[in-house]
Amino acid sequence: MGIVYVNGEFVSTEEAKVSVYDRGLLYGDGVFEGIRAYNGRVFKLDEHIDRLYESAHSILIDIPLTKEEFKENLAETIRRNQLRDSYIRPIVTRGIKGLGIDPWDAMSPTVIIIADKINLYSSKMYEEGISAVCASTIRNNPNACNPQIKSLNYLNSALAKFEAYLAGADEALFLNPQGYVVEAAVDNLFIYTKEGVLITPPTYLGALRGITRDAVIAIARDKGIPVKEEPFTRHSLYNAVESFLTGTAAEIIPLVKVDGRVIGDGRPGKVTRDIMAAYRELTKTSGYPVY
Ligand SMILES: Cc1ncc(COP(=O)(O)O)c(C=O)c1O
Repeated sequence: MGIVYVNGEFVSTEEAKVSVYDRGLLYGDGVFEGIRAYNGRVFKLDEHIDRLYESAHSILIDIPLTKEEFKENLAETIRRNQLRDSYIRPIVTRGIKGLGIDPWDAMSPTVIIIADKINLYSSKMYEEGISAVCASTIRNNPNACNPQIKSLNYLNSALAKFEAYLAGADEALFLNPQGYVVEAAVDNLFIYTKEGVLITPPTYLGALRGITRDAVIAIARDKGIPVKEEPFTRHSLYNAVESFLTGTAAEIIPLVKVDGRVIGDGRPGKVTRDIMAAYRELTKTSGYPVY
């Protein structure tokens, strides 16, 4: 039985409850993070906490904890679950109110921290790569709920994933309203071109500024690989030499087929594999110690 942090208390999974009047449930009115711990150290914790507070700030939620308090509660949740390798899900909602949509009444935010495990793909998929389709569901326009905000409304991503499932593919990619490829349902996207450049779509197109994405950019630059944040279309993706997705839960997963087109030679390429190895090393050698 797991232990969950809910509004200052550590309770069992069975006792961890939120009200049916919580705005996170009623309106997706809240924000979240997905964080990972490796061997007792939380990877990129400061970056995730900063992004959580920025998401909350953007939708006018004042998290009732300092960042230090948040980090300490998160570490304590991992300790109470006696986990070393873990996937952690902090959630902050605007709180509890009646059924009206008006968000400005004084509400006390609901703060939840779940520490569990996650395993998105099989080891075969990491070795051989995965397939994706470009979904007909497009990435939210940044003038709607900005995709930089990790809001509790991930219906767009869930619908895109459904499209992938119905098409028999492993993953879904989003185009933005202008038709540029921006990211996957819950991952960022990279291509490696025949010119030897690693390209990822700029965040202003509608991609989340992924923390794994930032880490990969740093790793690639460190290896002397030129990296660009530049818009590209499906044509460039189909004709890339290599491609991969990045995300906290997925880590780095090679992408070898998109919309029925084989990418490169249809196998995870050398650049992808080198970056995967360097990322694995980074997760082993850095992070906020929990114990
Ligand atoms: C829409 C979206 N894009 C990309 C990512 C990858 O971001 P990160 O590497 O910070 O996990 C996520 C995961 O949080 C996501 O939800």
